Amino acid sequence: MRPRVFVTRPILDEGLAILADACDVDVWPGDLPPPRADLLERLRGVDGVLALLSERIDAEALDAAGPKLRVVAVHAVGVDNVDVAEATRRGVLVTNTPDVLTETTADFAFALMLAAARRIPEAVDVVRSGEWRCWGPKVLLGRDVHGAEIGIVGLGRIGRAVARRAAGFDMRVRWFDPLASGDAATTPGRCDSLGGLLAASDFVTLHVPYGPATHHLVDDAAFAAMRPEAILVNTSRGPVVDTQALVRALASGRIAGAALDVTDPEPLPPDHPLLGFKNCLVVPHIASASLATRAQMSVTAATNLVAALRDERPRNLVNPEAMGRR
Ligand code: 8YV
Repeated sequence: MRPRVFVTRPILDEGLAILADACDVDVWPGDLPPPRADLLERLRGVDGVLALLSERIDAEALDAAGPKLRVVAVHAVGVDNVDVAEATRRGVLVTNTPDVLTETTADFAFALMLAAARRIPEAVDVVRSGEWRCWGPKVLLGRDVHGAEIGIVGLGRIGRAVARRAAGFDMRVRWFDPLASGDAATTPGRCDSLGGLLAASDFVTLHVPYGPATHHLVDDAAFAAMRPEAILVNTSRGPVVDTQALVRALASGRIAGAALDVTDPEPLPPDHPLLGFKNCLVVPHIASASLATRAQMSVTAATNLVAALRDERPRNLVNPEAMGRR
């Protein structure tokens, strides 16, 4: 009997081919996530699920799948959509897709920073709307990225990749890590507090995983500590920033702008106040969305899943404590 696997949305063919070699694969069709009732229904009796970040895999979903479920392979590096503690308790392995998206996501954080600093979206609008009348010495003046002070919040894989890029722009790099891992401590530019980092930075870029320790890490107090000329870049998770506090900071001119790949809520409704600010650039969670990286992510997620079903240790196991619990 081949194992049964549910894939919560079509991923790239490279990953699907790996799954199809080893399992009977059921893929939810279409561009939108399965409604909750359909997700629970399709999970029934599967051996593995390959989940996107839009699917909440909690105790209810694990119950729906039942005792055959051995692995939840997440197609993302962030696993905040999965109740990992609950999966671990049940001996269900959880895997993610680190490394393959590091450079692509760092490229995108930089792209957002440059776009916001140099007001590229506003400039595009000026041209498209026919407002471009003549070159002007005061038209769309932005801020220099080269030589500026960058504050990196979270010095993990992606934070470090951003720091490498910043060095090439002659930026002064400082970092603060609320979840500091041991090896980060020796990297130069460390700030002892988030407040200290924020007060010193022209650009603040977020690279922490989302969880209780990072919920609303950037709140009213954080905005109060930031420079008025600062630009906030978020490619981590929306709720790392208190959205209402960000709206207040933009409305009052407390900061110069924001560039967001991720928001809370996500998607952002079209009438959301954040979309009313010219100096707030919002894109739909695409930091890892290069063709090559999404192919790699699909392969990584599928390879992790198949390894778990073969009782091998998946390369990107998030909860090693779950091994051997069944
Ligand atoms: C995408 C991400 O959201 O890996 C993550 O944690 O946020 C992004 O790569 C992911 O591809 C969605 O499945």
